[in-house]
Amino acid sequence: MAGQKYNIGMIGLGVMGRNLVLNMADHGFSVAGYDLDPAKVNALRSEAGDRPVKGAASHPEFFGLLRAPRTVMMLVPAGAPVDSVIRAALPHLEPDDLLVDAGNSHFKDTERRAEYLAERHIHYLGVGISGGESGARTGPSIMPGGSRPAYERVRAIFEAVAAKVDGEACVTYLGPGSSGHYVKMVHNGIEYGLMRLIADAYDFMKRGLGLSNDDLGDTFDAWKGGEIAAYLIEITAKIFRRRDEQTGSRLIDLILDEAEQEGTGKWTSQDAMDLYVPIPTIDAAVSARDLSVMKKDRENASSALGGEIGRFSGNRDECLDQIRKALYASMLITYSQGLSLLRAASSARGYFLNLGDIVRIWRGGCIIRAALLEKIRTALRRRPDLAHLLLDPVLGEEVKSRIQDFRAAVCTAAGLGIPVPGFMASLSYYDGLRSARLPANLIQAQRDFFGSHTYKRTDIPGIFHTRWDDR
Ligand code: 6PG
Repeated sequence: MAGQKYNIGMIGLGVMGRNLVLNMADHGFSVAGYDLDPAKVNALRSEAGDRPVKGAASHPEFFGLLRAPRTVMMLVPAGAPVDSVIRAALPHLEPDDLLVDAGNSHFKDTERRAEYLAERHIHYLGVGISGGESGARTGPSIMPGGSRPAYERVRAIFEAVAAKVDGEACVTYLGPGSSGHYVKMVHNGIEYGLMRLIADAYDFMKRGLGLSNDDLGDTFDAWKGGEIAAYLIEITAKIFRRRDEQTGSRLIDLILDEAEQEGTGKWTSQDAMDLYVPIPTIDAAVSARDLSVMKKDRENASSALGGEIGRFSGNRDECLDQIRKALYASMLITYSQGLSLLRAASSARGYFLNLGDIVRIWRGGCIIRAALLEKIRTALRRRPDLAHLLLDPVLGEEVKSRIQDFRAAVCTAAGLGIPVPGFMASLSYYDGLRSARLPANLIQAQRDFFGSHTYKRTDIPGIFHTRWDDR
């Protein structure tokens, strides 16, 4: 319609951007879209049909289509592309316009950009969106951060397009500054952890217990309806059944075993280290991806050191049950690590996060949605200030009651020579957390021995140094 002004604009019409545009339009919002690649603008035009959507052919046309003050969402790859979109947009923007970065940007970039734009009186929101292609189309989980008045301008759109669980939209205002992108980063760190745990279980069951792809599909199908019900478990069941169209073989067996990454898991580990928060399951998941891409080295080491594994001689069904319990307990431990990082970051970075809200909006739409989140939400309702999920009596008991099976699964894997880095890191974290006394006294003694770093005593207050070699 000539002269029509659109509610919102979208820059970046890749699959995610286009699907989000269609989702917004299906909820009655008019959307203008722009992409540097005219083929993507055309794809939007043809997919939009008679929805209130307009693909713009140029920057001036795009910005001219938007109702003032303008709301412009960007969905472009993180890093330099976001800066170049901002640079190109600036001459067309006016004070009080709002830019929304809906990609996986690093939270420090978001802080820098928000400051730069604030000086130019442009509002900025850093928004994490999870759910992949289908989530964007039918309902993602949305994690917005920035100024609250800026959020109020997009709230109705976000609430309409977000996934719904029990009638509640999987979106809420999370906090100031870069909090939205921070929460999305930790979401992805947890995603890395859960994916690693499932990969541990897969390797264990396939190489260790000799399960076929059909058996694996059946096992994950059975699991997806139980206590470890989760989106990632569901898609894993489907993956094992998928045949390659060219060869007819199972596609999973034809995929190169080198796991790529865009960086959000690594950023989670890096920031956890900066804040001195242990998240070893997520660290192990990042390292395991790094090890996977050392394919040549792995092949050489497999010849040099022997790549064979032991023969499993136990009861297969019993072991499968132990693996399921190990997976459940370690999934809970992974969420616990992620949430403890969020709690620390909230005070270190002034985000004022409400963990209960975050868990609520993770229950639908996003990659880490799982039945377990409902139990975690209940625990956080009981104690909003819970320092570690495992200190909640109910959640603690969930791990405690499965711990012998968890240990047995890890022992079997270690005995067979199958790497289970996610399981091992989770179990060690649990055992470390429940050890009132750890061998850190020895670390302190060594530091004092070689570097006069001093130590504290358990019996007398003060700072001490010993000349360890003197006697
Ligand atoms: C999501 C995903 C999404 C993306 C990951 C993939 O929540 O929808 O996390 O953001 O698929 O960034 O990350 P890697 O490429 O690092 O595995």
